[in-house]
Amino acid sequence: MQKIDGKAVSSALKEDIRQEVEALKAKGAKIPHLAAVLVGENPASETYVNHKVKACNQVGFQSTIIRRDATVAETDLIQIIDKLNAEPDIDGFIVQLPLPEHINEQRVIEAVAPEKDVDGFHPLNTGRMVAGLDTFLPATPAGILELMRYYEIPTEGAHCVILGRSNIVGTPLSVLMSRKGYPGNATVTLCHSRTQNLAEITRSADILIAAIGKMHFITADMVKSGSTVIDVGIHRVKSGKTKSGWKLHGDVKFDEVSEKAAYITPVPGGVGPMTIVSLLRNTLKAAARKNQ
Ligand code: GUN
Repeated sequence: MQKIDGKAVSSALKEDIRQEVEALKAKGAKIPHLAAVLVGENPASETYVNHKVKACNQVGFQSTIIRRDATVAETDLIQIIDKLNAEPDIDGFIVQLPLPEHINEQRVIEAVAPEKDVDGFHPLNTGRMVAGLDTFLPATPAGILELMRYYEIPTEGAHCVILGRSNIVGTPLSVLMSRKGYPGNATVTLCHSRTQNLAEITRSADILIAAIGKMHFITADMVKSGSTVIDVGIHRVKSGKTKSGWKLHGDVKFDEVSEKAAYITPVPGGVGPMTIVSLLRNTLKAAARKNQ
């Protein structure tokens, strides 16, 4: 078994981005600026946004966090988005999800100007992705593709089984893994809560991507020997053994599945850091497009 080291790959890719920012600075060009809108006090969202800001600092991007209480009105949130859309200094921005229940997430996603939508969530960017056109790819799927590229995981003709059909991960990945090219050319099965005989399907996967949101759902008996297992799950569990008081677990029972898989991503240190690098790349791309 080889552990797929997302932390190491993301560090290498961040170094490339840092050098590109240095080159921009040397030319006297504007450095990329990413903004994040954070609503409420969801601890997971706080952590993700903090990681994104830290990564911006590491590569030399400017970053801004805009915080609002969980009680913010949808119209006020849309106003913030309109301002960010119009602000020339901001190259790209994200609205961290999930949002409080009184806010219509889809309306918020559609309010973001497609050219600043570095999450790749706007339907125009999703549509471009499906059509195979140049776009901002959603960060987690893009990060997973990058890991496959880095470890040269064969995908052509492989059976890729994806668990979870979210708009953020499962659905875009099903498109990207089946399209022509590398990584791609896989035969994709997208499984979800209504799928029957799930273990039978997962056992036939050459590449198994778990984005189901259930801790330790994937056990060794559900995995084919020699397969590649990608774990997108992040579950925070209280722990007396760590400095932070929390321990992260994935959708996959790592200890037993790693005995069977050829390649496997750990949690933490697998997909998570790659998601952040993809966001940085999209921001760099947004800034470069604007300068063209
Ligand atoms: N919540 C979970 N993942 C994401 C993501 O990639 N972007 C945003 N904006 N919110 C998220």
